[in-house]
Order: sequence, then structure tokens, then C-alpha cells
Amino acid sequence: MGLYHIRTFGCQMNEHDSEILAGVLERMGYDPVADVDKADIILLNTCCVRETAENKVFSYLGRLRSQKAKNPELIIGVCGCMPQQKGMASRIRHLFPHVDLVFGTHNLHRLEEHLTRITGAREPVVEIWSSPGSITEGLPIKRKAGISAWVTIMYGCNNYCTYCIVPYVRGRERSRRPIEIIAEVTALGKNGFKEITLLGQNVNSYGKDLEEKKYDFAELLKRLEEIEGIKRIRYMTSHPRDFNDRLIRTIASSSKVCEQFHLPVQAGSNKILKKMNRGYTREDYFNLVDKIKAVLPHSTITTDIMVGFPGETDDDFEQTLDLVRQVRFDSAYTFIYNTRPGTPASKMAGQVPEEVKKQRIQTLIRLQNGISLEKNRESVGSTEEILVEGKKVKDEFLLCGRNRGGKMVFFPGKESLISHIVPVNVKKAHLTYLVGCRV
Ligand code: SAH
Ligand code: SF4
Ligand code: F3S
Repeated sequence: MGLYHIRTFGCQMNEHDSEILAGVLERMGYDPVADVDKADIILLNTCCVRETAENKVFSYLGRLRSQKAKNPELIIGVCGCMPQQKGMASRIRHLFPHVDLVFGTHNLHRLEEHLTRITGAREPVVEIWSSPGSITEGLPIKRKAGISAWVTIMYGCNNYCTYCIVPYVRGRERSRRPIEIIAEVTALGKNGFKEITLLGQNVNSYGKDLEEKKYDFAELLKRLEEIEGIKRIRYMTSHPRDFNDRLIRTIASSSKVCEQFHLPVQAGSNKILKKMNRGYTREDYFNLVDKIKAVLPHSTITTDIMVGFPGETDDDFEQTLDLVRQVRFDSAYTFIYNTRPGTPASKMAGQVPEEVKKQRIQTLIRLQNGISLEKNRESVGSTEEILVEGKKVKDEFLLCGRNRGGKMVFFPGKESLISHIVPVNVKKAHLTYLVGCRV
């Protein structure tokens, strides 16, 4: 029927949506192609969390202009979070008339109908739903064959952090029914998958909108724990505000839920946290970290941090640095605050000059890199359980896999170990990975 190429921008949620887009295309008879020049359909699954993400999409679309001129039969589609913003779909069509198809996050399941319309009438299709319909189950998913799979447990976000565009482009929180999630994970276990990562913008809110009231995130974890074949359970992202004691206890007593806590803190100053509408103080955050370390002392704790939020003074930033020094994160994703149209923070006074933001992020990265390396060095000599994912790229003799904390570890070994969990002794630490040997 033809060849498709999907280019994904943004978070795991988008990566997983692209697996569904690929599933729908393959059900229609299309085959994947790595070389974009050979494709008959090109889909760009987009992100708009920061302007840099949008600019990447714009420049990619610009480059496709000549490909479309050479091959007028080529279908170019733009979907995902970006066109979900007000006025963006028409802006894309106006700037890039070679785009044939624009759709958003709420009607992803209608890809087949869209393509049938385009190939039939040869006219562009633009369809954006302003709000989500009910959850569509049973869509085909083209997962990369293997060991680890993403499983969506909920869509959307109700938190409305004042800087963030996600709630506007992903809609209100909607939890998938437990029965659907359990069925999907059971099938994954039967098909040889060893690890699942549960996806949602705030997985701790899971179940709040369900009729089955007793089902919260902790309950879901308990049920998924029982599923045969699955050896490891991860999840992202969890909101520090909603991480309760019951959840910590559930994770501590589970043998499958990994000791990896990604708890985006965003800032270390209470004034800024309040302006961000995060719903916790730095003291609450320290408390949470202490509780986790008390029950699971060897946990990996990672975070997201933003610098340059409106009104952030040198003193506020110093408090972020202080928090980073006290918590000693294993690693952190660091971002420069970027104004997103329509968000409350975009109208706040005290926007921080770009120069100051750049200096702050460099200071923060330098501090965090030092801590990351120190923490990795602390694991030298320990024996870790590694789920072997494959061979190291460009190195025939090294295998790669993650420890329970989620850190990448390389070690020499035979290919037959792939998909098994093996003990590895850590010999050497680097900034972003460890090197070891089998024991
Ligand atoms: N739901 C998740 C992740 C959302 S987006 C959470 O709440 O943690 C991932 C990260 O992007 C956020 O944690 C935040 O640090 C960053 N981010 C979101 N909006 C941003 C903005 N306007 N400018 C810069 N970084 C932003
Ligand atoms: Fe954005 Fe906040 Fe929701 Fe995360 S919790 S997606 S940062 S609004
Ligand atoms: Fe980006 Fe959408 Fe994810 S805006 S970060 S792809 S939810």
C-alpha cells in the first residue's frame, strides 16, 4: 500500500501515541520506513511544552516543502499537542500549505478516516476536537518488539501549574478502566515483555474520576504486581503533592515496582512554588524525600527543575540550589522557563531576562552534574540487578540494561542474556551511566 514515516517530538506520552498511529497505519497495510525521503506518508507527532519544541517542528516542515514539490502524492500530517492550541492548526496550514492533514490529541483514533478522505477527495483535512470524547479502547499498538512497554493509565492533567500548556492541549484527567489496563498488561506478560512503564501526566491522581471508587494508583499497582511474566513496573510522572504514605508503603512492599522516584520539584523557593500553583512547599518536599529514604534507602530520586520563572530573584534561585544540595538528586532534567501563550504565568510581572536565565541554568547544571557523578560513584562495588535490554550501540562486546533505579549499566556478556535479569557488580561510574561485570 505504501510506506510511512513518523517523527515524534516531546514526552513518552507522545512516543506511545506514535505507537498507536503506527499500529493504525500498519492495520491499513502501510509499512514503516526509516528513510523519510522514501515515505508516502509522513506524520509529525508534535510537542508544544516549550517554544524550542515548536521551532523544531516548524523547521522540519520547512524542509519537507521540496520533498512535496518533487512528489505531490506524498501525504504530510501534523498531529499531537501543537495543533491543539488555539489558532495553531490554521497557522500551520497557512505557513505550510504542503501539509495535507492536521489533527489533535483527542481524535488520534480517527487517523484511518482522515487518510481515506484525503486519498479519496485529494483535499486537505483539518480536524481538531476542543475536548476529549470518551476513551477509545482497542486501538492497535505497534510496539517495538522487546522487553519494555509503555502502558497509558490516564490521559490529561487537571493541575494547571501556571507555566504549563499540557492541561490545555491534553484535556482534563481521564483514567482508563482497571480492567482494560490489567488486560493489556496480562497480554504483554504473555508476549514476553518483562517491564512496563505506566504513563500519565500525574499517575498519582489515577482513579479519581472512576466509578470503581476503591481504585487508586496504589490499588492498581497491587493488581499489576500479580501479573505473570512482568518482572518490573515503573511509572511516570508522579506529582510530589499527591504522593501519599499508602503509595510509599505499597511500593516498599512490592518486589516488582522499582525503587525509582521521579518527583519533579520545579523550584526550591516557597514563593515561586506558590506562584507556580504546585501545591506543596519545600518543607513538604523534604518530608516526602525523607519518608522515601527511610523505607527505601537505596532509591534513585530524580526531578525536573525550572529556572527563570517570573519573579524568581537571586535569592529564590539560591533556594533551588540549596534544595538540590540537600536532596542530592541522582539526576535532574533542567529547563529554562519559557512563556507559553494562554497560561497564567505568561501574564505575570517580573519576567526574567534571558541572560540571567542562561547563567542560572549553567550554575544549576554544574551543581547537579557534580552530584550525579558523586552518587554514581557511591554505587561502585555494589551488585545490581540488571534487566538486559540489548547490546551497546557500536560495541559488539558490551550488553546494556538498567538497574532497578533506572540507571543504564554496560557490561560484557553474551547475547543470550538479553531479556534476563542478571546480577552485575559496578566497577566504574560515569556521569550518565555505570560500567560493571557479571558476578
Ligand atoms: N506532568 C509532568 C511533566 C510535564 S512536562 C509533571 O508534572 O512533572 C515536563 C517538564 O517540562 C515539567 O516538569 C517542567 O519542568 C517543564 N516545563 C513545563 N512547562 C514549561 C515551560 N513553560 N517552560 C519551561 N519548562 C517547562
Ligand atoms: Fe503540566 Fe503541572 Fe500537569 Fe505536569 S502537573 S503536566 S507540569 S500542569
Ligand atoms: Fe509535549 Fe504534549 Fe508531552 S506538549 S511534553 S508532547 S504532553
